[in-house]
Amino acid sequence: MEKVVSLCKRRGFVFQGSEIYGGFVGSFDYGPYGVELANNIKAVWWKAMVQSERNIVGLDSAIVTHPKVWEASGHVSGFSDPMVECLECNTRARADHLLEEINVSADEKMSIEEINNIFDANRDKLVCPKCGQKNFSAVRQFNLLAQTNLGNFSEDWSKEPTYLRGETCQGIYLNFKNVLDSTRVKVPFGIAQIGKAFRNEIAPRQYIFRKREFEQMEMQMFVSPEEEIPLYEVWKAKRMQYYIDLGFKADNLRFHEHENLVFYAKAAFDIEYNFPFGFKELEGVHARGNYDLTQHQTFSGVSMEYTDPYTNEKYIPHVIETSVGLDRTFLAVMTEFYDEDELGGETRVVLRLPKQLAPIKVAVFPLLKNRPELVAKAEAVFALVSKEMRAEFDDNGNVGKRYRRQDEIGTPYCVTIDFETLGEEKPELKDTVTVRHRDTGEQERVAIGDLIKHLI
Ligand code: GAP
Repeated sequence: MEKVVSLCKRRGFVFQGSEIYGGFVGSFDYGPYGVELANNIKAVWWKAMVQSERNIVGLDSAIVTHPKVWEASGHVSGFSDPMVECLECNTRARADHLLEEINVSADEKMSIEEINNIFDANRDKLVCPKCGQKNFSAVRQFNLLAQTNLGNFSEDWSKEPTYLRGETCQGIYLNFKNVLDSTRVKVPFGIAQIGKAFRNEIAPRQYIFRKREFEQMEMQMFVSPEEEIPLYEVWKAKRMQYYIDLGFKADNLRFHEHENLVFYAKAAFDIEYNFPFGFKELEGVHARGNYDLTQHQTFSGVSMEYTDPYTNEKYIPHVIETSVGLDRTFLAVMTEFYDEDELGGETRVVLRLPKQLAPIKVAVFPLLKNRPELVAKAEAVFALVSKEMRAEFDDNGNVGKRYRRQDEIGTPYCVTIDFETLGEEKPELKDTVTVRHRDTGEQERVAIGDLIKHLI
């Protein structure tokens, strides 16, 4: 974990949020390479979930919605985590996380009485993560919804708050009818969305794994009641395969079945990834019955019924949800593809990113920066490749150092313009460049005219 965090900071992937003010807990900023990687993760997800699926369409719904949305969804009354306070130093912690550290399982879906009983039975073993004392308050539920006064100008706005969305999928439910009425989709069909979500996490931790402002990539598939379980099984398998196809090792992934299903759910599995701190949830795949649409129908008074065009049967569709965090995927990607090896007698850090995720696809170097003819040719090659893919121009330091820098950020190819490119040494090599491969360090000679095709 330390190595990944250090690489992320050193090479401009991730910065602590508000760092010059001493940081702001639970907030991180993606730097120049981080934003490229994050955008590529989103593009790969969108390609798999929208572009490659005939019956899934995209959406970008508002972050702040009518406050009733969160009453209907159950978040106002029930979206909470069990919190305890250290009575010595006032640190707040999640009771279930403290218990987890001593291998006692408690679940945020348990009642507060149940958690208090488990917590009390283990008090002698539980220590404050900050001061090490064992003097905790009783466990109480803490609501995770973050409030905002957007559009509310009264002084006591917090009495009638609006909320920053706690999950992106509510915007999908709100637009179920709009999508149905404005496109040619028929059940079963899905709506996919990527966007920010906000949670007042009691104890954000494990770097970008648990943040207060984070991004989700969610897909809700609307299905008939009979199709719910068969299609759930299809999506469960598809989502696992997605990670394997991206290049993750199967050993680093596993399914974890939820022990306490919420009353309306038919099935719920997490896809867990082997993070540096152990197997933890990366993605949730849930069969949610028709609870969400029914709740919105009840609270809004607008019918969410679907009429089957072939049988005329009317029903409120059931939902299969796939929900994954962008930030957790980012951390999983950095962990999975981080490597150290020995090349040419030197140890190096290399990020073996799949090409479609690499922030920079190709780096272009003039062999020497004090030879104008090499620089001019390198600039021309950079202009050519940067039209097609994210490229970087680097003329700083010796070529070996430049290779190392690109290895660390996962650039699959480095292209060097040398004297042979100019035709000075072997005329037959004029207008060819050296292409060096990140994973093996192997080099080959490629004609500039074939370069784009070769790299793609
Ligand atoms: N709509 C379902 C839903 O929101 P969830 O299990 O609460 O379910 C889904 O969240 C995914 O969102 C998680 O699997 C995780 O990847 C990501 N996620 C949840 N809370 C997060 C947080 N505080 N920081 C970063 N990612 C988070």
